[in-house]
Amino acid sequence: MCTDCDKLKRPKWLQKPVCAVFANHASRPCVRYRRCVTKPMFHLRDATRVDLPAIVGIYNQAIAGRQASADLSEVTVDARREWFARQLSIVVAYTPNAEVVGWTSLAPYHSRAGYRPTAEVSTYIATRYHGRGLGSQLRAAILERAPGVGVDTVISLVFAHNAASIRLNQKFGFDRWGLLPGVVEMDGQRYDVAIFGRKLVHPKPPPESLGTNPG
Ligand SMILES: CC(C)(COP(=O)(O)OP(=O)(O)OC[C@H]1O[C@@H](n2cnc3c(N)ncnc32)[C@H](O)[C@@H]1OP(=O)(O)O)[C@@H](O)C(=O)NCCC(=O)NCCS
Repeated sequence: MCTDCDKLKRPKWLQKPVCAVFANHASRPCVRYRRCVTKPMFHLRDATRVDLPAIVGIYNQAIAGRQASADLSEVTVDARREWFARQLSIVVAYTPNAEVVGWTSLAPYHSRAGYRPTAEVSTYIATRYHGRGLGSQLRAAILERAPGVGVDTVISLVFAHNAASIRLNQKFGFDRWGLLPGVVEMDGQRYDVAIFGRKLVHPKPPPESLGTNPG
């Protein structure tokens, strides 16, 4: 069975779940299924300081692309140490040979105390691993961790021209809460930043009086 993605256990072109080795099936597998069986397995774990150089390396790839970050030149590991310490949670994705190929983090949205329940999510994948479901795996993992670090509102600030990031936000139920028009200047051009947000719903425990006394 495909252990990577639930959807792919039951591809659209078959009515019943299939084995990942589909050589015996004459029909053409759907695109999602082909993508799945050809991609390597990724693992996730919480980041440690040892991961910082890899995290910075992946971030620097995105700076050059001008799609994701308003930093204009590469950052150094030393310059990011304080950033690392400030994060509420960081999760990294790594290959079977332990290469870190993506990361996501939750950072306090604002330094003022009242903003405590609100965090900003960032997600960066090494360029050659884009479009393989890794961003989705990482986003799911960081949202799971949010309640544990006292966060119930997650915000994502993305360039309005960053189609992949906007799709990732929409996929995880983020709504567009606003637009900051032309706030970023890069290479002589102005760019809009979209604000996406999502409220995380925590099931409320039943009141103590309920369920204990049926009478
Ligand atoms: C944005 C980013 C994290 C997405 O990660 P990813 O691993 O490529 O994303 P996934 O493969 O999980 O795809 C997530 C969704 O976006 C869609 N998508 C991926 N790339 C896309 C693109 N270039 N254009 C439009 N949609 C895209 C996928 O189809 C998928 O939607 P679906 O499941 O409905 O088909 C990754 O592209 C990246 O690191 N970009 C540079 C950094 C960045 O922009 N970070 C965001 C700012 S914090």
